[in-house]
Amino acid sequence: MINNRIRLGVNIDHVATVRNARGGVHPDPVRAALLAEKAGADGITAHLREDRRHIRDEDMERLMQEINVPLNFEMAATTEMLEIVTRLKPASSCLVPEKREELTTEGGLDVVKSYNHLEDYISQLKNAGISVSLFIDADLEQIRASNDLGADKVELHTGAYVDAEGDKRIEELERLRSGAKYCAELNLEVHAGHGLNFETVKAVAAIPEFTEFNIGHFLVGEAIFCGLEDSILQMRKLMDEGRNN
Ligand code: PXP
Repeated sequence: MINNRIRLGVNIDHVATVRNARGGVHPDPVRAALLAEKAGADGITAHLREDRRHIRDEDMERLMQEINVPLNFEMAATTEMLEIVTRLKPASSCLVPEKREELTTEGGLDVVKSYNHLEDYISQLKNAGISVSLFIDADLEQIRASNDLGADKVELHTGAYVDAEGDKRIEELERLRSGAKYCAELNLEVHAGHGLNFETVKAVAAIPEFTEFNIGHFLVGEAIFCGLEDSILQMRKLMDEGRNN
């Protein structure tokens, strides 16, 4: 279960945010995905939101055709998304909350509350050959429920850790550590993501159970200053340092 090198999934949603600001075709998120791949991304993540505020249907279609690393399709657990994802058949899906009522107190998907709906939904994804991840808080009850639901993996929400300062940040890091450890005990693959940046990534990378990080907004923002390749290479370096120390 414990894997030494952490995979890096690069989320390209916010390249599409900039493109959509002017309604044209530039910058192209698929071009960014190919560049991320060249810089060593192990996977590409994109979130097709119900309101299509950044990634659009045709972006997902092109990502499936053009990239050479696995696509992690982030989505809400809706009927519309199930139809799209089972047609495109990406390597994996990650179920995320989009509406307030799907959120736990911290911000991940409330799998305990949505258990019955998710049970059927997850089995449909798995029957289509798509691996399923659930984006949840580092909460033992949520982790246990995800495991009971048959999810292939969970992604622990790192937002509360990134946003906290001082002792509160240490406390949040401990929550991530206990959550990741519990996943490993259950034999449940565990990923992490949301808000990670150069300052916060190393401490999470040092938690040995994490096998993958999904990072987007900071990498795309930093690319303004140093370019996307350098921003990814620097993140990769910090992840490796965190893991190997
Ligand atoms: N993981 C999941 C499940 C997410 O929803 C997001 C945000 O789209 C990320 C990771 C990446 O977060 P960020 O863009 O803050 O790095």
